Amino acid sequence: MLSEQSTPVIRETLPVVGAAIQEITERFYGKLFDAHPELLRDLFNRGNQANGEQQKALAGSIAAFAGILLERPDARPDAMLARIANKHASLGITSDQYKVVHTHLFAAIVDVLGDAVTPEVAAAWDEVYWLMANALIAIETGLYRQAGAAEGDVWQQMVIVDRRQETPDVVSFTLKYADGRPAGAFRPGQYVSVQVGLPDGAHQIRQYSLSCAPGRPEWRITVKRVHDETRPEGEVSTWLHRNARVGDVLTVSAPFGDLTLVDGDGPLLLASAGIGSTPMLGMLNHLAATGSTRAVTVVHADRGPADHAHREELRQLVQALPNATLHLWYENPGDQAPEAATGQVDIDAIDLPENTTAYLCGPLPFMRAVRGDLLRRGLPAQDIHYEVFGPDLWLA
Ligand SMILES: Cc1cc2nc3c(=O)[nH]c(=O)nc-3n(C[C@H](O)[C@H](O)[C@H](O)COP(=O)(O)OP(=O)(O)OC[C@H]3O[C@@H](n4cnc5c(N)ncnc54)[C@H](O)[C@@H]3O)c2cc1C
Ligand code: HEM
Repeated sequence: MLSEQSTPVIRETLPVVGAAIQEITERFYGKLFDAHPELLRDLFNRGNQANGEQQKALAGSIAAFAGILLERPDARPDAMLARIANKHASLGITSDQYKVVHTHLFAAIVDVLGDAVTPEVAAAWDEVYWLMANALIAIETGLYRQAGAAEGDVWQQMVIVDRRQETPDVVSFTLKYADGRPAGAFRPGQYVSVQVGLPDGAHQIRQYSLSCAPGRPEWRITVKRVHDETRPEGEVSTWLHRNARVGDVLTVSAPFGDLTLVDGDGPLLLASAGIGSTPMLGMLNHLAATGSTRAVTVVHADRGPADHAHREELRQLVQALPNATLHLWYENPGDQAPEAATGQVDIDAIDLPENTTAYLCGPLPFMRAVRGDLLRRGLPAQDIHYEVFGPDLWLA
């Protein structure tokens, strides 16, 4: 909770800081990477820096956090903090790094706002920063403990034991420990970070959802290559497609992530588009492996049957579950998929049982549309969970 003396100062300055926060975060990252170039090379995602998405996510989260401190002083935005903390833990962020971020963030605030940053204003924003930082550090400490890892020590070496070309753009990799130990436990829906060494010497990290059931001796990730004429090709996905072969060793984090399947008997809606199917496959594989009788409505949208990764596996999983139904939408179904509808997903066309819990994953416009439809149908917001495959710009 914010102190009495800081509350009016934050109320007064939030509009100014909010209006300048994008510029502040841009300056902040400039200063941070000037002082610590290794952080841009080996920790932060260079693509998200170049396209500005990480700046927006950081700015959005700080402004949202300050707003919540003012509007609901007794509440903590746990969902937002949990998402950030899980991402941080999957990258091995440590508590001492928060001091480094603090130094450069506050230098950027002074740069941008100049004389407006009186000692009183600086002290109030300092309080906001440390309220947020300490909340994140506390969650991250708990996550490291649950993972059985010392702070930040999340990395392990795993061997690729299988590689499958699922579609022209999608490859799956099955991973095992070289010494034969079974791969660790995870909750369906979670992801791992994968760190790869690139030709310029950088070590870049990306997240990949576990697309298999937990409790098996190995893990599987499914990677879509980011490449089209409209934008630079993705660094890590392209590297994995071109270079990662059976027998190679990958540096992989322990599993993290807060989009996880809630245990119970209640009905589920799993709605995905494109490569967003991967956490849903983890959940469906788990439901099938545990003989679940839950009502499960599976909705998936893709460009066409040939682009739909794990299409046959999805069909078999739905068939194996006694109370599951599959609804497919393809932009171009062709004559290979008579069971699929054409065009965009229409959730209104599907019957959903009372008390459905929904999980969404796919491009933001897809998730916004489906979430909007579900809210209109009366599904409570707290029962709609989602995963964004990048910095969460819903925060912004
Ligand atoms: C929780 C989570 C789970 C995920 N699960 C999966 C999964 O199961 N499967 C999967 O395939 N992906 C998944 N992702 C996405 C994955 O982590 C990567 O983001 C994805 O593989 C792209 O990484 P990349 O290194 O290839 O692209 P990047 O190099 O990171 O590029 C990202 C974007 O930035 C753009 N960009 C790069 N450089 C510039 C520049 N100079 N100027 C402007 N734009 C630029 C690129 O064009 C691209 O659009 C997940 C992400 C998260 C956060
Ligand atoms: C109060 C302080 C901090 C806040 C508010 C914050 C906020 C965020 C947010 C909102 C994201 C995006 C999460 C998402 O994927 O949706 C993020 C990611 C990240 N954070 Fe932090 N963070 C803080 C501290 C730190 C520290 C101390 C470090 C370590 C130097 C760090 C490193 C990272 C990295 C590497 C990512 C992933 C970036 C990417 O993929 O480009 N953060 N953080």
